[in-house]
Amino acid sequence: LPSSIKFLNPKSEKTAIGLLSGTSVDGIDAILLKIKNCGTETKVKILDFKTFPIPKTLKASILLNSNNSSAKIVNICELNVYLAKMFANAALNICKKNKIKTEKVDFIGSHGQTIHHLPDKSKSRWKVKSTLQIGDPSVISNLTGITTVGDFRIADCTFDGDGAPLVPFLDYILFRSKTNNRGLLNIGGIANITILPKGCSKDEVFAFDTGPGNMLIDSLVKILFNKNFDKNAKIALSGKLNFELFSILQQDYYFKSKPPKSTGRELYGEKFVKEILRFVKRIPKEDIIYTLTEFTAFTIYYNIKKFVPAKIKLNELIVSGGGSCNPLIMKLLQEYLPDVKVKKFNFNGITAESKEAVLFAILANECLCGNPTNMKNVTGSKKDTILGKICLAYN
Ligand SMILES: Nc1ncnc2c1ncn2[C@@H]1O[C@H](COP(=O)(O)OP(=O)(O)O)[C@@H](O)[C@H]1O
Ligand SMILES: [Mg+2]
Repeated sequence: LPSSIKFLNPKSEKTAIGLLSGTSVDGIDAILLKIKNCGTETKVKILDFKTFPIPKTLKASILLNSNNSSAKIVNICELNVYLAKMFANAALNICKKNKIKTEKVDFIGSHGQTIHHLPDKSKSRWKVKSTLQIGDPSVISNLTGITTVGDFRIADCTFDGDGAPLVPFLDYILFRSKTNNRGLLNIGGIANITILPKGCSKDEVFAFDTGPGNMLIDSLVKILFNKNFDKNAKIALSGKLNFELFSILQQDYYFKSKPPKSTGRELYGEKFVKEILRFVKRIPKEDIIYTLTEFTAFTIYYNIKKFVPAKIKLNELIVSGGGSCNPLIMKLLQEYLPDVKVKKFNFNGITAESKEAVLFAILANECLCGNPTNMKNVTGSKKDTILGKICLAYN
């Protein structure tokens, strides 16, 4: 056996790296950590976290090639390798920064970059659910010399699962509580929530994508203000709610539909943005950003009210992802949910920004230990399965 799989013993302490680029395409998140055990026994110790910016032209190309009408197979083919190089560099860089030799890193877990996510089987020509992440893990393992586990979502699609969201597994193994009914909300490009009833078992966890996170705000801020995002909600806070736009946004069907459900740029991308742009002539630009920010908070509130059973009275909502840095989203969430304590995520060195990167290191650990990590009542999958593909490094 290659020496690279010596660490399959779950009990030993492993050094690992988690890599991720989310639907916001804002940067590559890399986390360096120690992992011991697996499943509910998992212990992690964070060593470092860093976000590597994605250059503007690369981001533009990823977005273009995530969109069915502008994507080109040549570009996707190349990006699959080029992005993997970027991911590999992020891993090498975080090792160097921490003076850790790559030989000492047991494995990398890499999510890749989602360029398409098609969970709606009824709309599929071939009646399948599918999802596509690029940034090939075997390129990462070859460039780093570190065994890399990647492509975590697709196995779940085999059995009619959405392949998303995946973060509830992490929420369950690391953040469940004996005393509180906890909601864990991640506001990335898309927002997703995990409900952990106090003392829950794995099967009692439920979770779904609530709707847009920062995606609509980011798109409109780019078009109207030529900025990448609304830093600290500065633009939104200089505007106000526009009721006409708000009521039109509420006609969106996804956020009102019943879980299990997941979504992505296919829904809240170009087409949706075009609809909003029709209002630009009549509504101050700042009001559009305010209204979109409130819409994000509203969809989250709506999903909690409608789909969290009344008997599970939420005590706390713990928010992670870039959206937790948006003070207006946080304020509105607290106003919409006066009985729930809304707070920013921070557990043992895992921060609101780094949480998702931890997930992919954890999923890699579980894959290498042979444990299933998809959650059937979250993704809708008919079977338990091991998520991830293992690419061994050859040194
Ligand atoms: N200080 C901030 N103020 C407002 N929004 C922020 C701030 N920091 C990050 N964000 C938002 O978070 C987004 C990135 O969130 P992230 O969790 O990385 O999403 P993804 O997982 O989709 O990459 C940014 O595009 C931006 O919209
Ligand atoms: Mg990101």
